[in-house]
Amino acid sequence: MSPVLLPAAVSALHILGVALGLLGIVNRARALAAFDMPAALRADNAWGISFLLLVGTGLARAFAGLEKGSDFYLGSAAFHAKLGLVALLLLVELWPMITLIRWRLKPQLRDAAVARRMATLSRIEVGLYVLIPFVAAAMARGIGS
Ligand code: HEM
Repeated sequence: MSPVLLPAAVSALHILGVALGLLGIVNRARALAAFDMPAALRADNAWGISFLLLVGTGLARAFAGLEKGSDFYLGSAAFHAKLGLVALLLLVELWPMITLIRWRLKPQLRDAAVARRMATLSRIEVGLYVLIPFVAAAMARGIGS
């Protein structure tokens, strides 16, 4: 494979991950607020797959020599801010993720009031999520390096 094709393919997968993630978390928030559990679980699947795609392609881009090299990113305040936002997102996501896994296994546990609280957390995650591309664009252009 030519030396530019793999970085280009991984970059494209990373950006597709961004789009899939936004679709997933926005639809999950909406479906949970309406207590539409089949739609909420479908959206949650998209959200989960996008996260694995983003972290997998992101780590490859940062540390597998596909882009500007590990030293560039480790020396970038924007990169650290980006990973900080991802960690904060994971923290907020922890309870909804565990709850939805339990609700898949035991549908009788599903509760409209709990779903509404998870809808609120999902909206907070949308807010955090849309900040990341701004920090990523700054990182890619060496702002904060
Ligand atoms: C562990 C998680 C992640 C890592 C390690 C990571 C790493 C990277 C790297 C190395 C690049 C290439 C930058 C360059 O061209 O020099 C990049 C680009 C990008 N990342 Fe991530 N990423 C992660 C998660 C995310 C998430 C969650 C989002 C969005 C919500 C995101 C959005 C973007 C965008 C939009 C770009 C393109 C920036 C541009 O070229 O202007 N990344 N990421």
